[in-house]
Amino acid sequence: MKIVFAEIALPRSGTLVVTATADRTLTRTAAGVDKRVDGALTRAMGRGRFKGGAGEFIELREPKGIGVNRVLLAGLGTAEEVDARDLQDLGGRVVARLATSGETEAALCVDVIKGSKLGTAEAAANAAFGARLGGYRFDRYRTKEKPEDRPTLKTLKVLVKGATAARSAHRSLDKVADGVFITRDLVSEPANVLYPISFAKRARELARLGLKVEVLNRARMEKLGMGALLGVAQGSVNEPQLVVMRWNGGRAGQNPAAFIGKGVTFDTGGISIKPSGGMEDMKWDMGGAGVVTGLLAALAGRKAKVNAVGIIGLVENMPSGAAQRPGDVVRTMSGQTIEVINTDAEGRLVLADVLWYTQNRFKPEAMIDLATLTGAIIVALGHQHAGLFSNDDDLADQLTAAGKSEGERLWRMPVDSSYDDDIKSRIADMHNVGAGRSAGATAGAKLLEQFVNKRPWAHLDIAGVTWSKKDTPTVPKGGTAFGVRLLDRWVANRYER
Ligand code: BES
Ligand code: MN
Ligand code: ZN
Repeated sequence: MKIVFAEIALPRSGTLVVTATADRTLTRTAAGVDKRVDGALTRAMGRGRFKGGAGEFIELREPKGIGVNRVLLAGLGTAEEVDARDLQDLGGRVVARLATSGETEAALCVDVIKGSKLGTAEAAANAAFGARLGGYRFDRYRTKEKPEDRPTLKTLKVLVKGATAARSAHRSLDKVADGVFITRDLVSEPANVLYPISFAKRARELARLGLKVEVLNRARMEKLGMGALLGVAQGSVNEPQLVVMRWNGGRAGQNPAAFIGKGVTFDTGGISIKPSGGMEDMKWDMGGAGVVTGLLAALAGRKAKVNAVGIIGLVENMPSGAAQRPGDVVRTMSGQTIEVINTDAEGRLVLADVLWYTQNRFKPEAMIDLATLTGAIIVALGHQHAGLFSNDDDLADQLTAAGKSEGERLWRMPVDSSYDDDIKSRIADMHNVGAGRSAGATAGAKLLEQFVNKRPWAHLDIAGVTWSKKDTPTVPKGGTAFGVRLLDRWVANRYER
């Protein structure tokens, strides 16, 4: 679907979408259309339940007095409260309604919303952003899709007074959407297609955006002493890879912000094997690495004024004659040892080495890791929030605020010293599980904390939010890319204001 911006002029074909706010208040173009169609919109509002609330629609087919095939009146909610995300949702909903409707062209008219603080350029840009996010599909492997299920909508024209300003406000948002799509594609790929080497290859392709990409193979990691990461990888025929992506858009010499991702391309659990029901979900156990990759692409794409580094640890966790066993002790790059009680608690083993490598090499001023780390975080927070663990209150607050404004909500969880004993081992420096069923997500975070060397750090446990079983206006079911928008916003707030 192509998105273009144009000045407001009533189209003569396709679908026209106009808006209303709460209490059935038509915006300017909507009122003009209503006159043309002899008050049909007003009459429809009177008869039906349409109040102008967000998500409400009225549809007129083949209306007389106007050339278009169909008019959609879309509700936006209370004018004073309308924000950028409401416009994104509007764009997403419009595309959801029209994508497979048979319509090839639609015009979405973003009028001035009287009473709203949102400028029209911003409003139009966000509607376009939402339309693109909501229109995402992963259809690479569907060869027999019925024609009626295929998208027909080819062009969405966003009509707005001041199209040039809207177009330029949209430019960065479009790059963020590119990043979100890269992440969604990675997360959606099956593990026979996306394994450490093929993932690294896709990351390498992002050099076209101006990212510097380096890949460390098994031999390099052996030399660095990454025994924890390599222990997870040793049961798989797929060689592990560590990918470093760098974007230097900030001040020369400024220490970077580091984003670290868990990239377990498939998690069988290893010798502590998972039950088979639902195991296919573990193809998206590389969600953290997917987000870091999409984020770096977004930052480079929009030329963000920041020095950022993305480091992802790519491994496959398999059971085999070569796999590590419960009870094995591994030596990490930091020198600290870990007793592997459960080979299914592998994400923290991978990240232990990746976090240490990151702080050691880049001295980042903040390090933020993302990982589908624990089932326990889903028990605690469901799918509505990701878990946030941090040793730095300011960083935690910044991330929480960024998440709120992007609709990717975080909920802070504890990692204080009262949980130290939960990861104590009798024969090594620590073990890789917690205290039975208690505070399982915190135990994971606690282990990670041992490898950040007291740098400002935050850990996002995204196990509950990386994949969605239901559609929302801007996030179709499947891989969500939760984290890309949040962290892009965090960068914008912290480095670009
Ligand atoms: N990748 C899983 C966590 C997970 C579970 C992600 C469900 C998404 C959905 C992780 O590697 C894992 O298996 N964690 C174990 C840890 C336990 C053995 C201490 C878990 O949560 O059960
Ligand atoms: Mn696991
Ligand atoms: Zn895992």
